Amino acid sequence: MTTHKILPELEPKRKLYIETYGCQMNFSDSQIVGSIMTDNNFEITDIIAEADLIFVNTCSIRDNAEKRVRARLQEFKRYKKMKPGLIIGVLGCMAERLKSQLLEEEKMVDVIVGPDAYRDLPRLLSIAETGQKAINVILSADETYADINPVRLDSKGISAFISIMRGCENFCTYCVVPFTRGKERSRNPETILTEAKELFNSGYREVTLLGQNVNSYQSENGNGFAQLMASVAEIDPRLRVRFATSHPKDLSDELLNTMSAYPNICRSIHLPVQSGSDKILKLMNRKYDRQWYQGRIEAIRTILPGCALSTDIIAGFCSETEEDHKQTLELMEWVGYDYAFMFKYSERAGTTAEKKYRDDVDELVKSRRLKEIIDLQQELSYRSNLADVGKTFEVLVERFSKKSQKELSGRNSQNKMVVFPRHNFNPGDYVNVRISSCTTATLKGEAVI
Ligand code: 5AD
Ligand code: SF4
Repeated sequence: MTTHKILPELEPKRKLYIETYGCQMNFSDSQIVGSIMTDNNFEITDIIAEADLIFVNTCSIRDNAEKRVRARLQEFKRYKKMKPGLIIGVLGCMAERLKSQLLEEEKMVDVIVGPDAYRDLPRLLSIAETGQKAINVILSADETYADINPVRLDSKGISAFISIMRGCENFCTYCVVPFTRGKERSRNPETILTEAKELFNSGYREVTLLGQNVNSYQSENGNGFAQLMASVAEIDPRLRVRFATSHPKDLSDELLNTMSAYPNICRSIHLPVQSGSDKILKLMNRKYDRQWYQGRIEAIRTILPGCALSTDIIAGFCSETEEDHKQTLELMEWVGYDYAFMFKYSERAGTTAEKKYRDDVDELVKSRRLKEIIDLQQELSYRSNLADVGKTFEVLVERFSKKSQKELSGRNSQNKMVVFPRHNFNPGDYVNVRISSCTTATLKGEAVI
């Protein structure tokens, strides 16, 4: 599909405000939307009151994510009162999941656009400008927005995301993503490499390759994710490379060996486990068991010593018993995660879990189990940080610290936040920092000069 210009170039630019919820993929999509819109005579503003067009890029992964967006939409009503021509668009997973139902439920919404239909935005807006509602939620088997150069909202940035694939076909039984983001498809590697090189040449020093399951990346010439990582790492040793997210079932030794061959591929792997109980993993359709997962962790420890590990955990999935929950806590302890994203199970309409299982863990029990998981992770994160005190890490400086202009903050290869006194260093510099103290969330130290 081609994009249509909706306004002649000479007319004054109108202002677009974009608000993004959910995963990194959504943030990356908002930059693609930004690019399509700036090619169509819009400019991006971060002042909502001056916007002619408001887009909300939404997330459906849990019910509370959707509730937050609905509450936010209510607040947009007053901007519409102040500026009657204002157009409000809902983009992303909620648009895809609810389709025209959302137009009926939220009267202030003018445009609904699913994640594969962003090229159609200019046409949809021209419909909305006539006062009609406009919707496109068609999912695609091949759209990757490969040729669109995302608008980086942070022009002097250090770290950027590059989307390398879209969709997911794993159908974990709790998850709505395969329904909202459609079939899995990989972006052509040349466009990925070009984007990474351009970022490096304009001053970026870190790229994160993004996909729902990057391990199943497959280019048309048959190259997999490990080769892609190697090619990106070879752009320049000063360009750090990260990736997210891996599925444990296909985290290969080949990828671990590639990581080990390139020091600029960061020593940090996000490997969502979801649960430590074999019974629950089976019900979740994760396609691995506890033993397989532990085997992958052992391979990481052997091939990539010092590699940080993070995970996602769901508390209170259907039929989860105290014993299942205990197994999750035990596994967390065994791995000793450096970081974790932890959630209460939230039933999503249309998923296998919603159709076939009962959401039978009491809300209070879910909350208590989640709290136990969070408390344990706090302890594990602190322990992991404490073990780093006395070590020296190469830190890529990202910004001045929130607390003081005299301090800089950045991350080490393990993705831990490090804060240290500035001296003469600047964002974008690599600095060796010796760690002298820590909190649960941050390492603190001094530059080794
Ligand atoms: N309820 C709670 N957490 C969920 N996740 C995905 N679907 C659900 C759900 N229905 C979590 C998983 C996934 C992360 C992105 O969100 O842990 O890895
Ligand atoms: Fe959802 Fe599973 Fe796909 Fe991740 S791998 S997006 S949890 S279905």
